[in-house]
Amino acid sequence: MDDYRLLINGGIPLSGDTCVSGGKNTSVAVIPAVLLCDEPCVLDNIPDIEDVHVLIDIMNALGAKVLYEPEKKRLTVDPRPVSQDTVPYAFTQKLRASYYLLGALLGRQSRAQVAYPGGCSIGNRPFDQHIKAFRALGAEVEDRGAMITAQGNLRGASIVFDRITVGGTINAMLAAAKANGKTLLYNAAREPHIVDVANFINSMGGSIKGAGTDTIRIRGVSHLHGSTYTVIPDQIETGTLMIAAAATRGDVTIHGCIPTHMESLTAKLLEMGVLVSESDDAIRVRTVGGHRAVNIKTQEYPGFPTDLQQPMSAMLTMAKGTSIVNETIFETRFKHLPEIARMGAHVRILDQTAVIEGVSELYGAPVTATDLRAGAALVVAGLMARGTTEIFEPGFIARGYEHLEEKLTALGAQIRREYVSPQE
Ligand code: EPU
Repeated sequence: MDDYRLLINGGIPLSGDTCVSGGKNTSVAVIPAVLLCDEPCVLDNIPDIEDVHVLIDIMNALGAKVLYEPEKKRLTVDPRPVSQDTVPYAFTQKLRASYYLLGALLGRQSRAQVAYPGGCSIGNRPFDQHIKAFRALGAEVEDRGAMITAQGNLRGASIVFDRITVGGTINAMLAAAKANGKTLLYNAAREPHIVDVANFINSMGGSIKGAGTDTIRIRGVSHLHGSTYTVIPDQIETGTLMIAAAATRGDVTIHGCIPTHMESLTAKLLEMGVLVSESDDAIRVRTVGGHRAVNIKTQEYPGFPTDLQQPMSAMLTMAKGTSIVNETIFETRFKHLPEIARMGAHVRILDQTAVIEGVSELYGAPVTATDLRAGAALVVAGLMARGTTEIFEPGFIARGYEHLEEKLTALGAQIRREYVSPQE
């Protein structure tokens, strides 16, 4: 149970300028990637979020020397003292991305033992494609349910993923970066952070080509050197801020983002009647008048991201007409919608499809966040609603959004923490 709740007085259009933070899903992959290297690395634009702090704890426990300077968003990691190869459940249950420790430790020292990863409860989340890739590279993998052990000297291989997986693609890149020979990854994921991780490994002297396409070619190198690298901005935070701006019928410019990463969301917002304009590294989102309902189908990049489905479907609860949202990536990623129904939304959920009949008003109510993006969706709903929304379990939000309340407050939102005693 979190020791605070978020209180939002809704109905205020957001307006002004804001800046996007460094990417969560790229940071949680780039930090373990430092383990492949034999020298210190400096990572810039690393966001001050819970997931990063858990990963720092894991890196420290493995023996790395880590310094995080939140005011500079700079993380310095010296992997040379790393001696451990085991990451226990006490750490992995807090962080899905702890699975990257397997690929990174395997690549570094030919042995890794990592407890099954936790993370957001949004579906089944199997690990078979990661294991398939490690085995193809020559590792012996033992999966005992609670703990996965992988060991062996790795050699390049051709791997065809049976389904597109972000984590599986990155883990295979991590393991193959120093494997002996060439690796080909087919049916690879194409998300921007896959390109970012490949660019980071290449900045240390690695050889990864084709990241961002469905075929990635890796030539294993025996040594990676230290590097200073800046991670890309967070496209899901950018999208969440775009949605919050539109949903409150506001006028917000988001600086420091990469507009081309946002195309699937921008297209949907335009279809809804939102005004979106872009420059090289900024997006302005404005709404004049109402929003039209749209249909959404989540897909791998460059399709509509599952991570934005939740905030977007929150916004659709007040769009004119009926929206159909089809979640194809994760089985149970609609847990925010029954909560928003408590605020007056009209929603029916049939397996992985949500049918949303737009209403003209939402009303503030007590609601509970069940995962990171569900938390963001409830914030969007709270910003749209008349009256006060009280979000229970808001700690999920701090896992992946850097200082969201401060950013929204600076845009005019009335949002604050209320600390509660443990008995309440
Ligand atoms: N899948 C398998 N087998 C595998 C791996 C995945 O069947 O071995 C399935 C999954 O069950 C899912 C689909 O493939 O149905 C895609 O999963 P993927 O591996 O792409 O997801 P992930 O690596 O577990 C990352 C992000 C998620 C994001 C997804 C999809 C990180 C740490 N997590 O998860 O981010 O939703 O990709 O883009 O990068 C979030 O930020 O809120 C979040 C959950």
